Amino acid sequence: MSTYNLDSFVNECRDVMSLDGDPVDRVELLVPAMYRLLNGDTGFLKPEHFKSDPDHYARNAIHIEEDDSFSLYALVWSPGQWTPIHDHGTWGVVGVYEGALYEKSYFRTDSAGVIPKSGIVLARGGIIVLAPGAVTSFVPNPDHIHLTGNPDQEKRIVSLHLYGSGMAGFNVYDRPAQTRKWIEVSYNES
Ligand SMILES: [Fe+2]
Repeated sequence: MSTYNLDSFVNECRDVMSLDGDPVDRVELLVPAMYRLLNGDTGFLKPEHFKSDPDHYARNAIHIEEDDSFSLYALVWSPGQWTPIHDHGTWGVVGVYEGALYEKSYFRTDSAGVIPKSGIVLARGGIIVLAPGAVTSFVPNPDHIHLTGNPDQEKRIVSLHLYGSGMAGFNVYDRPAQTRKWIEVSYNES
């Protein structure tokens, strides 16, 4: 049997995207796929996928499907780098390749509606530490609000992020102002 690799993973993503189903169904099939990818042939990770940026965590594209139906990135978190509080507006599957990635959850306690831009009241939730080989996921029902990052003072983290879109941006929350807005995000082509 051949070793599971990036081609196997992309083909599995295409198969899953061709099925009818809601985000939860897709994530249920793609979490084990991400686990197999992390534990298979990771030779697809080239030096360009480990690029970092001193100003913020780096997003290095591994595969963006032509129709933008899914995308896979390597994120490189230098010590002390975090996202803002955000949601993706789509589903995602995250696997940790190197280091221990922290995720902090937030929960809305307001009744401002499904897709508000203001009046958003967030309560802090729990913290998860994801060690190498761990896989987590999220679905937009309606939002999965979190921040992730690297609290370590010396070591980088590298994680693989599969999203149910081209992931050109995300919703960033301003907790004191009780607002959120869509921000376009850049990435390194590779
Ligand atoms: Fe996220």
